[in-house]
Amino acid sequence: MKGFGSDNHSGIHPVMLQAMIDGNSDHVPSYGTDRYSEKTAVQFQDLFASPVDTYFVYNGTAANVLSLQAAMERFESVLCSDVSHLHIDECGAPEFFAGKIQTLPSKNGKIIFSEIEKYLIRKGDQHYSQPRVISITQPTELGTCYSLDEIQEISLLAKKHGLFLHIDGARISNAIHYLNTTFKTMVTDKGVDIVSFGGTKNGFAFGEAVVILNKELKKDFKFIRKQAAQLPSKSRFIAQQFSAYLKDETYLKIAAHSLKMAELLHHELAKVCLLTDLIKITQPRQSNAVFAILPKKMIKALRENFFFYVWNESTTECRLMTSWDTKPEEVHEFILQLKNLI
Ligand SMILES: Cc1ncc(COP(=O)(O)O)c(C=O)c1O
Repeated sequence: MKGFGSDNHSGIHPVMLQAMIDGNSDHVPSYGTDRYSEKTAVQFQDLFASPVDTYFVYNGTAANVLSLQAAMERFESVLCSDVSHLHIDECGAPEFFAGKIQTLPSKNGKIIFSEIEKYLIRKGDQHYSQPRVISITQPTELGTCYSLDEIQEISLLAKKHGLFLHIDGARISNAIHYLNTTFKTMVTDKGVDIVSFGGTKNGFAFGEAVVILNKELKKDFKFIRKQAAQLPSKSRFIAQQFSAYLKDETYLKIAAHSLKMAELLHHELAKVCLLTDLIKITQPRQSNAVFAILPKKMIKALRENFFFYVWNESTTECRLMTSWDTKPEEVHEFILQLKNLI
């Protein structure tokens, strides 16, 4: 059974599976000193048009938490949206490893820009966690994207106040596709300092990368990663997946498919909304997720065949997420079942 639970629920994309098989011969050195990892590091530098350092880790929480650990002291704070994964879904790991989380009000998942400066206060006050990092999620947890201008604006503000800018990019390729841009334009040229670059949700078996643009943050990262038990010994298998993902713009092709399926789902759901007031689309669709309020009774029945998450228990806002392997017929079948329930 397939559903709309998460892009984490899907299996491994054949391109990445093949890449792992292709890297599965010979003995090679471990811990990232193999030829596969070295080749992939160059691909990342080409992608960002910058001499970035890239470190592989096992999961997205580690990519986020270790990025922060590199950028801040324990007595400092990271400003992020009140719906960010960092704040809601990482079991306090950022605070355990890196420092205080300071949440900011958000709209459709994005930090409200005019609110940021209100939190940049009490500089030098020993009683107050000193703001050190701004972290944005791109695309956000609500499937929206910061525009290039918005990222620029946030980055300039961060620089003005001596803060680092981190991107939680668990699905960053989807934003690149949606904005019809490049990593150079969206990240490097905007002065982003460090990125959690997602693999798993985009068709990998496992594996994420921390991409460091700011050389101040590069210095101790290898120690930070190892101490957190996130140094993969058979690193070549993550490297091989990233290599295939970046080669020939596979990342864009995978993003294009997921977003196309979300567009179809959104389009069909919008038509259903014309038939009933019970269903309401709640967020702009700018990535591979559609958010809608569905009636409680229908949720139960629908989830018997198509699993999805209820995002907000009190409003019954649900998240329907597409993936690299979502098929149009699955979208149509879901809509048909919804119509039957209505
Ligand atoms: C936006 C975002 N960041 C980070 C993560 C963390 O990834 P992981 O579950 O691999 O730790 C997720 C996972 O759902 C996510 O959606």
